[in-house]
Amino acid sequence: MRRSKISVIGAGNVGATCAHWAAAKELGDIVLFDIVEDMPQGKALDLAEAGPVEGFDGILTGTNDYKDTKGSDVVVITSGMPRKPGMTREDLFEANKQIITQVVSACVEQSPDAYIIMVTNPLDTMTYLAKHISGLPKHRVMGQAGVLDASRFRTFVSMELDVSVEDVQALVMGGHGDTMVPLPRYCTVSGIPLQELMAEERIQALIDRTRDGGAEIVKLLKSGSAYYAPAASVIQMVEAIVKDKKRILPCSAYLEGEYGLEGIYFGVPCKLGKDGVEKVIELSLNEQEQELVKVSAKAVGKSISSLNL
Ligand code: APR
Repeated sequence: MRRSKISVIGAGNVGATCAHWAAAKELGDIVLFDIVEDMPQGKALDLAEAGPVEGFDGILTGTNDYKDTKGSDVVVITSGMPRKPGMTREDLFEANKQIITQVVSACVEQSPDAYIIMVTNPLDTMTYLAKHISGLPKHRVMGQAGVLDASRFRTFVSMELDVSVEDVQALVMGGHGDTMVPLPRYCTVSGIPLQELMAEERIQALIDRTRDGGAEIVKLLKSGSAYYAPAASVIQMVEAIVKDKKRILPCSAYLEGEYGLEGIYFGVPCKLGKDGVEKVIELSLNEQEQELVKVSAKAVGKSISSLNL
């Protein structure tokens, strides 16, 4: 039986950390690609040399040649500019549009049957662009955002209540930006609704912190943006696909009528398995939640239209 082949494009902070998590979980053979000469080779070799200590097998290849990504089962795209303090994800639009256009066509030429998971920001727009450039069907192209946003919310809830992160479940929908929609009604602690455990104003404070979660890290790092949690989140999606786990995870998925939205990528709960995005789950939302979704969809739609495709 062949091991899965996972290519990670962009060997910077997020890409290299993706390779790290994927290798440690033995998800398959990993190819780390970057345009910077020798750097991905160095990182891949360094990571391979951690294998004997940590006890993971798998071939790790660093490269500047797309041919080495040939026949990938999953391609994770992290190439592009990260944010600097004061920037929104949307400010990365122009620079990353050029990079993603070129990277996606090069990847698909080598791996026409791959699943593509986008990480580059602005996320929903870059995922839309990836689908357009690749010509792949919607179940094969998705974006990572909701796993990270929900994980941030879960972290803050666990800190506030002083309980294990393992017991906190949360759901965040919408665009991966300032309009994201954390859904406290769907947040539970070991099955107990969050509202039973926390006052309304504290919940709202954690929602606000979640929305600003990326910016909070950017401000602290001063150069560059978050990468441990983003990378762990992508790898949870990769694992769901290569192990056909049928996980229910919030992802940026292409919508054709779900939630009343048409022709955009948007954060929604999905079933992820060997066929990629196998299903979009439609939740019943109350009026206030629907309104927040509408505002978020409008912002994402505006960004997508400015791709002028
Ligand atoms: N092809 C391949 N790699 C590229 C290209 C390209 N055309 N252009 C840039 N890169 C590489 C850079 O050389 C760099 O190694 O992408 C990498 C990006 O790494 P970092 O600068 O460390 O950025 P990172 O923190 O990993 O974020 C990458 O993910 O979360 C998002 O907003 C973030 O858009 C950003 C992306």
